[in-house]
Amino acid sequence: MDYLKNLNVVVLAAGKGKRMISSTPKVLHNLIDKPMIYYVLQEAIKLNPANLYVITGHEHKTLEDYLAINFPKVIPVYQKVQSGTGHAVSLIKEYYNKEMESLMVLTGDCPLIKSDTLKNLAELQKSGNYACTVLSAVIDNPSGYGRIIKNVSGEMIKIVEEADTTPQEKLIKEINTSVYCFNAKDLFDNIDALDTNNYQKEYYLTDIIEKFTQNSLKTFVCIMDDNREASGVNDRVQLCTAEKIMRNRINEKLQYSGVTIIDPDSTFIGIDVEIECDVIIEPFSFINGKTIIKKDCIIGPFAQITDCEIESKTKINSAMIKNAKIGRNNNIGPFSYIRPGTVTNDKVKVGGFCEVKNSIVGNNSKIPHLSYIGDCEIGENVNIGASSVTCNYDGYRKNRTEIGDNVFIGSDTMLVPPVRIGKRSMVAAGSVITEDVPEDAMALSRGRQVNIPEGALKYRKKNERLK
Ligand code: UD1
Ligand code: CA
Repeated sequence: MDYLKNLNVVVLAAGKGKRMISSTPKVLHNLIDKPMIYYVLQEAIKLNPANLYVITGHEHKTLEDYLAINFPKVIPVYQKVQSGTGHAVSLIKEYYNKEMESLMVLTGDCPLIKSDTLKNLAELQKSGNYACTVLSAVIDNPSGYGRIIKNVSGEMIKIVEEADTTPQEKLIKEINTSVYCFNAKDLFDNIDALDTNNYQKEYYLTDIIEKFTQNSLKTFVCIMDDNREASGVNDRVQLCTAEKIMRNRINEKLQYSGVTIIDPDSTFIGIDVEIECDVIIEPFSFINGKTIIKKDCIIGPFAQITDCEIESKTKINSAMIKNAKIGRNNNIGPFSYIRPGTVTNDKVKVGGFCEVKNSIVGNNSKIPHLSYIGDCEIGENVNIGASSVTCNYDGYRKNRTEIGDNVFIGSDTMLVPPVRIGKRSMVAAGSVITEDVPEDAMALSRGRQVNIPEGALKYRKKNERLK
């Protein structure tokens, strides 16, 4: 793609986001499971830019740390004082060289923008050899946005910020989306001419259009097809609106690829989640992170799944699962909690009020009721009786339990590790197991039962007398 050669991108993200009323930088507020800047950067990366810059400022360390971990190739550029979008972009001049043909400017608070729209803009910019191509939108309520001012022949001559508009200009419905593609040379030749003679006393990037006009440099404005893409997030109401749009986009894409979503309004699926066809998602489900769900699963209602791999034909009802691999044909829930490091094989059952952590569960094994299994390896065809617990933590260390194939653990068993339960052995209900159990053995470790003849009768009589 020729027009993308030597394209550089800068994302403006230094602003405080005053209207968010937050100590978190605005662009780190989440839409579903990812900060809004994640979406902008992912779309920018699809253009394969030579360099991708992010202007940081307010709480810049937090943002820079996020970028270093999640987008190590991004070059953060610190803007000490947020004196306007024009000043922010001028900081890239330091990186300017002949190779930098064009510079695209995006804002970090515009998470719905799509790479196809950006590609189209870059293509227009290249084909017309303009000083700048501006992406505009025509919207019913333009208040708060900069207006695109055109001459009688319909050419853009300047952009005026809302606070600086004349009553006539205020009526204009074509607005600046703050997405631009510049000829880098023209941009940096003119950017120092910006001033702060405006209502907000800031260096407005938008003023550069008028400078171009004055210097007879051609600009172009392109009206976007779907103006929802331009929705900026300035407060938490707009954050919520943007999230809904993003959510619909993700859900609809999945629906068109063969996933049944019973109630998209109560289904929250992250953008990096992969779901195969014929999966059914019941209401009130949250599927996040790098989760993969294979064919024919039934997920929800009330599933919270993060960073998991779930094999086909598995049912997950009312469960929270994090960082785990769930096998084929499993039956999880209702009310199960599966924690990081857990791997289940085929046909496993984890039932009501069971917690499983950092454990491997073999084929066809069952943990049906009220149990805690932690740091444990369970073989195949094992049955864990109700209310059994691996006492994995001794106050200092986490110890491992091993349970061989075909073992039967009676209800209310405490397994005190490190301990091994040999293949085909049985543990009697109510046992506290502190030593290894050999293969095929029956372990029994509980007080012997005493039946006192007529004991209940005598007990009642005595208490009746005292009443
Ligand atoms: C800006 C545009 C306006 C446009 C609107 C679209 C200007 C002067 N105005 O207005 O024409 O209609 O976006 O959403 O450009 N930022 C910095 N450093 C600064 C100031 C801002 O990095 O010194 C960043 C902010 O973090 C934000 C972006 O630039 O991500 C836009 O700034 P913001 O203050 O939100 O501009 P708007 O008033 O929305
Ligand atoms: Ca804004």
